[in-house]
Amino acid sequence: MKAFFKTQILSDAYQTAEKLAKDFIRYTEEMLRYRDNLYIALSGGSTPQLMFEIIANEYKNALAWNRLHFFWVDERCVLSDDAESNYGNAYRLLFSKVKIPAGNIHFIHGGNDPLNEAVRYSGEILSFVPCVNNTPAFDLIFLGMGNDGHTASIFPGQTELFDCQAICAISQHPQTCQKRITLTGKVINNASLVVFLVTGSNKADKVKAIINSESISLLYPAKRIKPSNGALSWYLDKEAANFLDLDKLTI
Ligand code: 6PG
Repeated sequence: MKAFFKTQILSDAYQTAEKLAKDFIRYTEEMLRYRDNLYIALSGGSTPQLMFEIIANEYKNALAWNRLHFFWVDERCVLSDDAESNYGNAYRLLFSKVKIPAGNIHFIHGGNDPLNEAVRYSGEILSFVPCVNNTPAFDLIFLGMGNDGHTASIFPGQTELFDCQAICAISQHPQTCQKRITLTGKVINNASLVVFLVTGSNKADKVKAIINSESISLLYPAKRIKPSNGALSWYLDKEAANFLDLDKLTI
């Protein structure tokens, strides 16, 4: 697969988010020459919000929205109008500003009973996303990373969420005990492309531990992201990459 995304370090959070937005546009333009639709999963938290704003404000006419299907990597178990809602924030910043069919937005209903919603959402994924090795294979998954090395809503110590056979699972934030619904590691590592967008000095020590260390450290879930048949890349600003030994990039 052509290297649409490659690990790179940009000067600040804005430059990093804008470069990823531009590479995403180039990726969709190229891929939609061969594909009818693309299946993309978005992460939440604060980091991707800048990219959402950049796309909405500067590039909204550069994407074939009717041929892009957006899912979420994870969601907090809150209503979509809650400030914590990953879908709510993406809708407010991006999807409310572009001409995308409502049927192309496949969000996790955070206000539903978590168990029932995990089953419902898994079914929605299965009815849209093509499978590879009997597992949904997203074309592209955007990930973030917490300063504890978590990704999606898989937190340190919850590595069983990598190995379980389900498509998505229920996790709990270790500090706030907030329930989350998350894609499992099995699905994330089955994607064709996985891209981390990580910025800020508070992530620098984990970025180094995850990218520079040879050993697969089970301590940090982000370290276990290794697409079995796909490509992984990191978009970092200088602050997040501050401790990286660039001669020892293991990805
Ligand atoms: C979430 C995300 C999560 C996020 C990291 C980083 O729901 O919180 O999906 O995996 O990417 O927590 O969050 P920040 O971008 O806010 O640092």
